[in-house]
This record gives sequence, structure tokens and C-alpha cells, in this order.
Amino acid sequence: MINNRGGSTYYNNSWTMQVLNITEFVEFIYTKYPEANIIELGTAYGGLTNLLCDFYGKIRSYDNNPTAIAYSKHAEDSFLIGDLHDDLFLKEQFKSNLEEEKVTIFFIDGGDKALEFNKVKKYAKPGDILMVHDYMINQEDFETRGKDVWNHFEVGEDDLDLEGITRAPFFDRGISYAWGAYQKQ
Ligand SMILES: C[S@@+](CC[C@H](N)C(=O)[O-])C[C@H]1O[C@@H](n2cnc3c(N)ncnc32)[C@H](O)[C@@H]1O
Repeated sequence: MINNRGGSTYYNNSWTMQVLNITEFVEFIYTKYPEANIIELGTAYGGLTNLLCDFYGKIRSYDNNPTAIAYSKHAEDSFLIGDLHDDLFLKEQFKSNLEEEKVTIFFIDGGDKALEFNKVKKYAKPGDILMVHDYMINQEDFETRGKDVWNHFEVGEDDLDLEGITRAPFFDRGISYAWGAYQKQ
């Protein structure tokens, strides 16, 4: 893996907007939830998608910009195009998750992560994990420890509609990678 100074990371030559040690976090999640169904919101250049595919095989990753496909390696059939802020599109894509047997882990990392979290939670079933990126608990948390983790703060706990949702058991670990980790009850 080659890193750059901005805190962004290359995973097998595809750019991922993640902390340098993101592989270690994905490996941790895989060890805990090896059978999970994975959905990424916000593909960008496909680095995290490819990393998730290397652990899980086929996953689903959504973006409204088809550029990402050009950068994908083995993950071509995991890339899906659509507007994640469109309620009809979300319903069409995600309503079947409510009947899915496996735990689903949502990696929420699109253009407005709090909005996406609040929309997608409707399609999460009990036990599903909702991960939201560019996260610290609040601005103060970002100022005190977050800046050592990641260069961007977008979502705090108060931005999230947490009715029926609690912090996931590995919430504290998620913070070390700029991911907020929650679980549907
Ligand atoms: C922060 S990047 C994703 C980074 C990627 N998950 C990674 O780890 O490398 C956000 C992506 O969300 C996409 N996006 C923004 N608004 C969107 C929308 N309304 N629907 C779908 N994708 C959107 C952008 O095109 C961009 O590629």
C-alpha cells in the first residue's frame, strides 16, 4: 500500500479516501462479521470498494458518478450508479434488505453522510450495522483527538436520527478510523 501525505490512501493502486491503516479496520470487521452483506454508499475511485471486495467477494457500492468504474479492478459488477438522496431509488434498492437473512453492514460515505444515514436507517433490520464516515462525536471531539485521526469532520452524533439505533459494540474502535459505528435495535 502506498500512502500520501493528505491522509488519503492507495489500496492496490486504487485511491480510497480513508485513513492510512483502513485495511486493518476492514480486517477487524471481517473477522467479527465474516458472513455479512456489504453495501457502500459513495464509491468515488473505488479503493474502499476493492478492499471490501478482497475480504467479502462481491459487495454493492453506489455512486452517482460513473467515473469510479474506470478505476475498478475485479470489482466491476459491485459498482452501481444512482442518486443516493432520491427516496424512490433508495426504496427500490434497499427495501429487500428488510427480508435479508444476513446482517448487512452499510458503509455510508456519499455526498451528505448524515442525510444518507437518516434515510437508509429505514431499510436497516435489527442487528444491521450502520457505519458513517468523516465522523467524530462532536466538534470538540474532533478538535481534541479527531485531528490526529483524519483531516475532515462532517458528521457528529447530534446530526444522526438515533431512534431505534444504538452505538455498535465496536464504536470506540471505529472512532480511530473516522467511522461512527451504530447498530439497529
Ligand atoms: C467521499 S467520496 C466516497 C469515498 C469512498 N467511499 C472511499 O472510501 O474512497 C463521496 C462520493 O459520493 C458520491 N456522491 C455524492 N453525492 C451523491 C449522491 N447524491 N448519490 C450518489 N453518490 C453521491 C460522490 O460522487 C463521491 O464519489
